[in-house]
Amino acid sequence: MSLNKARPEAIDVLLTRRSVKTRDMIAPGPDAPALARILEAAMRVPDHGKLTPWRFFVFEGEGQEALSAIIIRAFQQENPDCTSAQLAKMEGFARQAPLLVVLASCPSDAKPIALWEQQLSAGASAMAMLMAAHMLGYVGQWLTDWPAYSPAVHSHLGLGSGDRIAGFLFFGSAAAQPTERPRPNIADLVRFFGTEADEGE
Ligand SMILES: Cc1cc2nc3c(=O)[nH]c(=O)nc-3n(C[C@H](O)[C@H](O)[C@H](O)COP(=O)(O)O)c2cc1C
Repeated sequence: MSLNKARPEAIDVLLTRRSVKTRDMIAPGPDAPALARILEAAMRVPDHGKLTPWRFFVFEGEGQEALSAIIIRAFQQENPDCTSAQLAKMEGFARQAPLLVVLASCPSDAKPIALWEQQLSAGASAMAMLMAAHMLGYVGQWLTDWPAYSPAVHSHLGLGSGDRIAGFLFFGSAAAQPTERPRPNIADLVRFFGTEADEGE
């Protein structure tokens, strides 16, 4: 495939991606071939030093149930005075969409590549998964919340001390067309130097 060939339809897809809240997600989630494509996209991200500083944990059905049980137990232990609403939220956390991919940033010290760069690569991986899901006709949302920082959840995944949960990537189908979220203006956030866009500044 020529890298110099414009693909205007692809940019349209890129510019229509948006998150859909998990409460507005329904089945089906990505099937096995779609999930394979999503994971392929997740690993085709810039990765300084080829360190593959990320790992993926896929949860569906019983896997989500087991993770829910771990989250609720850990949450209760750490927050004995929590409200029933907080408990219910944690109870449903891992099961809030048909498919969950937990993305962990797992930096390596095999080469002198900055930790920050390796963590950025995990962020790129999350974004690639959201994009891939969108292109395959599914929706996604990237969440963290309390479980991302829970040692019990880290332990369940076998994460090491330097590893972090970059996100819980939830996937499903959209129950309805969501309203558009306001997006930033290019002019508010970008400064141009020596480009066509800075003429007249
Ligand atoms: C690292 C990270 C963690 C996030 N965690 C949460 C979260 O815990 N809860 C939440 O409501 N949104 C969270 N968000 C925001 C949503 O994923 C998403 O950005 C937001 O719903 C708007 O989506 P869109 O700009 O993709 O349409 C997080 C975003 C990032 C990048």
